[in-house]
Amino acid sequence: MMCMTIRPILIHPDPRLKKVCPPVKDITGELHRLSQDMLETMYDAPGIGLAAPQVGVLKRLIVLDAQRDKDAPRAPIVMFNPEVIAKSDNLNTYEEGCLSIPEQFSEVTRPAEVTVRWIDTRGEECQQDFDGLWATCVQHEIDHLNGVLFIDYLKPLKRQLITRKMIKLKRERAREKA
Ligand code: NI
Repeated sequence: MMCMTIRPILIHPDPRLKKVCPPVKDITGELHRLSQDMLETMYDAPGIGLAAPQVGVLKRLIVLDAQRDKDAPRAPIVMFNPEVIAKSDNLNTYEEGCLSIPEQFSEVTRPAEVTVRWIDTRGEECQQDFDGLWATCVQHEIDHLNGVLFIDYLKPLKRQLITRKMIKLKRERAREKA
């Protein structure tokens, strides 16, 4: 069994969460381990998706599992260099949250269905259609690779309010550690 490590998740605002991440060229053992650590970190949080920049690694890598039924087996997906290659005209609105913006939730409207192409951990090209929560989740995670957070879709005042709360939260956490 592979030994997995829960990695610390960066909290907004952080310059690393605003960067456009470069594509992955080779899926090295190190990147494979990182993807397994990210899954473990996501399940532990708990969350339904996590992007590499959220653990401070500026690479195009995301993990997700939007399986909502707690009794169903886990359905983890690891995507290197994911790309939305088609999206529906019809839209869907979900209340989104983010592990880098704890305890803040807001409605975001996105295409209801997307087709995503990516490279899996074996280096194989994959393509799949996603809808429902999976579609929202994969778009949210791909946004992270382009330095975009769900609060960037909100009105500036709302965004500033959430950012101020996060600055306060980070200050409190830093104090607790000191
Ligand atoms: Ni997020």
